[in-house]
Parts: sequence; C-alpha cells; structure tokens
Amino acid sequence: MPRDLLHESVLTRRHFVGASTGILAVGCAGQKWKTRSVKTRDGVAELDLKDIPELASPGGMLAVKPDGAAKPVLVMRLEHDTFRVMSLKCTHMGCTVRWDNDEQVLRCPCHGSRFGDDGRVLDGPAKRGLAVYQSQLNGTKLLFKPES
Ligand code: FES
Repeated sequence: MPRDLLHESVLTRRHFVGASTGILAVGCAGQKWKTRSVKTRDGVAELDLKDIPELASPGGMLAVKPDGAAKPVLVMRLEHDTFRVMSLKCTHMGCTVRWDNDEQVLRCPCHGSRFGDDGRVLDGPAKRGLAVYQSQLNGTKLLFKPES
C-alpha cells in the first residue's frame, strides 16, 4: 500500500465540524462510548463501508472494536477516499481516549492527555502519539490490521 494513503490526506477542522452530528456517539464527554464490533480474519479487520453511514463522507468517524483487539480503534474518513485508522489506547497508561467534539481533539479521561486528529500529542502526560494503522480500501471494504 502506498504510504501516502495514510499520511497525505488532510482532515480539516471544518470537515470534522461538518460531520459532527454523525460522530457524537464517538466521544462527547459524558456520553456513553459506543463502538461497533468488527470481525477479523487472520488478524485483519474488515469494515464494509456500504453498511456504515458514519463513514459515508469525509470527516466521518466511527469507533470500532475488532475481535481480539484490546482497545477500540477510531476510523476516520479523510478526503479522496482515504482513511485513518488509529488506536484509542492512550500511550501514557492505556486508558481509552475519546473524541471531544467541542475541542476537536482526542482526550484521555484518566490524566488529561490530549491528541490531535492525526494522533500526535498535544498535551501530556503522554509522550508518544496514538498508534496509526495502515489500511487498504478494497472496493467498499476497508481492511486494517489492529494490534492485538
Ligand atoms: S492514561 Fe491517558 S493520560 Fe494517563
């Protein structure tokens, strides 16, 4: 897979805001953390995008829990049919980070680390960014291999 599939697309703040009604379930403070279960085969998760309205357009995002994965991952649709798949496991002590729709960041509820929508650390105590996994779009199927 070409490296730029994951790294050259730009997800703008405007896109996230524009898609906010579809992603509220992902992580507004105080709301229940909803995830969709995803089957894996040989460690590879497969999402059929035609069944996932949250990922129908750029800016959409959805938390999913692949079979066998310790933590959910966040799938974001970027521009030009590209996607970002990112671990929601905080790199400080392993809590599950959540999307803060007001601030447009990922926030850890345990000790307050904040991460950008590309996983980079904005505020500690976490020192490393969130893990980003390679993904491959195959027709309407998005394939990715989360850490187990
Ligand atoms: S576990 Fe996330 S900031 Fe400590």
